[in-house]
Amino acid sequence: MRIGPHLLSALVVISVGSVVTCDQLKQGHQPAAGGLPLVSNEKFHFQVFSSRSLKDFESWIQSYPDFSLDNILANIGPNGRNVANQGVGAGVVVASPSRDLPDYFYQWVRDGAITVHALVEEYARTGNSTIRDVINLYVNDVKNIQWTENPSGDFRSGGLGEPKFEVDGRAFQDGWGRPQRDGPALRSIALISYYNALRKRGEGNRNTYQFLYSIIKPDLEYVSHNWAAPGFDLWEEVKGLHFFTAMTQYKSLNLGEQIAWDAKDPGAAKWYRIQAAGLGRFLQTFWDDDRGHLIETLATTRSGLDSALLLGAIHGGSDSVFPVHSDAVIGTLHALVSDMTFRYPINRIYLKRHGNHDGPASIGVGRYPEDVYDGGDGRGGEGNPWFLCTATVAHVLYALVENISLSDRPLQITNTTASFYFQFLDSVNTLESASFYDFFFAQGFMSITEPIVVLAFPPGAKEIELILAGLLSYADGFLQVVRNHADGQGHMSEQFDAKTGFMRGARDLTWSYESMLGAVKMRKRAYDALEIRRQFYGNVKTV
Ligand code: NOJ
Ligand code: NOJ
Repeated sequence: MRIGPHLLSALVVISVGSVVTCDQLKQGHQPAAGGLPLVSNEKFHFQVFSSRSLKDFESWIQSYPDFSLDNILANIGPNGRNVANQGVGAGVVVASPSRDLPDYFYQWVRDGAITVHALVEEYARTGNSTIRDVINLYVNDVKNIQWTENPSGDFRSGGLGEPKFEVDGRAFQDGWGRPQRDGPALRSIALISYYNALRKRGEGNRNTYQFLYSIIKPDLEYVSHNWAAPGFDLWEEVKGLHFFTAMTQYKSLNLGEQIAWDAKDPGAAKWYRIQAAGLGRFLQTFWDDDRGHLIETLATTRSGLDSALLLGAIHGGSDSVFPVHSDAVIGTLHALVSDMTFRYPINRIYLKRHGNHDGPASIGVGRYPEDVYDGGDGRGGEGNPWFLCTATVAHVLYALVENISLSDRPLQITNTTASFYFQFLDSVNTLESASFYDFFFAQGFMSITEPIVVLAFPPGAKEIELILAGLLSYADGFLQVVRNHADGQGHMSEQFDAKTGFMRGARDLTWSYESMLGAVKMRKRAYDALEIRRQFYGNVKTV
């Protein structure tokens, strides 16, 4: 059956009783209040290098993992080139070498754990002993700061929730948004991964494993006893219950159960399992049916949209609770990116350049719509796009490509993802392979727990090929944005200016490099998966 666009619009029903046209679906979400209007005269001086060709993009991307690793190691004590001879302890991951406006010359538990997790993956893959030695130094540093009494408490009374320490391991005594309960979760994820990697490689002995478990277990205890208690979010601003935090806690307790069995600690294993089950149910409450996307903080007065939702899906969760390719996460990504597109003036350049090419324009992405942190003294200003948030959008999109490519089930487009996927079906006038589902049942439901499938494509459909190609170039576009605002060599700070595009905020932010490393590795997995799909279905001709 050939179905023309007019018929399609008539068939797609996504909300109670109202028929939505294909065009309406494509427009996606409106920008949230405060979004900037599109104006065409750009008077400001801005940084976007149009001379950089796509060909150099590919070679830039290929060399970027090594570049990221080098810049990560440069920020780790005692000998990293950016931090050597400055009193930085062994294995301490410094957030950024910047000591003034802003002063990021500290070790944050979150930044350190996320970064070391990336090093663990590198070690697991290559067995590189230099990297293993750095991880071992980090392990000792973790033990040290776990036992350092600090304003959140001591080892037994809540001190594990302290978010940051001095670079020499002393407690940070000034006022701060504390506690932050994602720290122990992320730290245990990193260290459990290390434990597993050592085992797989046949390195280490019983003492090594026991020692590691003695550091991992206190963090798991902290997580399992405190996950229902409010704390500060990963951006260190809001006290409450947060998606990012809960996702990382959920993952840590699931991994924790396994490691506890392995360490012959069955009582702990069962306890972590029970707590993980509770957290898994709790996580469902972050889906907001009215808004149609996940929210970062429960009972928030903000829009709830936040890059932390995507970061939570990458660094936390599981295959069954909000996996990175799930409809909830993809629908949320779409709402967030739609907001950010019109929020930052610099993105007009990307919209303009994209013109009427197929598919959506890739743009610079910030933390959350209401952000006012300009990367300087923390006294407010205007929020900017961040390197790590922009790279994270690419990461999620590559994960989606991998998932769709390897799936042997139909691609179902639901009410939650319709406006996202329709962006990639722009140029299709006829949807030959689609099945249309549940036209009548659709009415009356608008819920993630009971999604409405509006379209479905069988696994080998040429429309899927088209969507995959569109997703890949969309994802690559976000990495091109990162590249445009990094310096000539690829160095990244924390943010880039919403108006001029020049770098802002802490220079050489360790987390920026970690996020690009993660995105580029996921890109490779996406391309490999697509290759497998093409071998299976043949080179499907796209429309
Ligand atoms: C500010 C960010 O909001 C926070 O997430 C991060 O841990 C610190 N900077 C250090 O990079
Ligand atoms: C530094 C924090 O880490 C950042 O997340 C926050 O936005 C600023 N201070 C302003 O409070």
